[in-house]
Amino acid sequence: AFVVTENCIRCKYTDCVSVCPVDCFYEGPNFLVIHPDECIDCALCEPECPAQAIFSEDELPAGQEHFIELNAELADEWPNISEQKDPLPDAEKWDGVEGKFQYLER
Ligand code: SF4
Ligand code: F3S
Repeated sequence: AFVVTENCIRCKYTDCVSVCPVDCFYEGPNFLVIHPDECIDCALCEPECPAQAIFSEDELPAGQEHFIELNAELADEWPNISEQKDPLPDAEKWDGVEGKFQYLER
């Protein structure tokens, strides 16, 4: 499956949602996750993310491995999102900031 990682937090651009053929994104207050059992590994979402936050679970950057479990867990709790919406207000400011995991709202 593909996995949403840390740089989505406080950005939530949602471009990814508009291309997913199986609508397997789930939305929290400031982060999105992919349901690992629903993702068909089409890879369409990966290049769409302006924050480059989406990776195949086999190609996660070092230190982002814990997002595999987090995507699985939160996808069962959060509501589905199937249409693109506006990014969070300070998305540009937060894009690329280190250590955003502490700001994850759930
Ligand atoms: Fe959806 Fe394809 Fe991305 Fe999986 S890889 S989340 S199926 S767009
Ligand atoms: Fe997040 Fe990128 Fe989608 S910032 S909401 S994974 S387009």
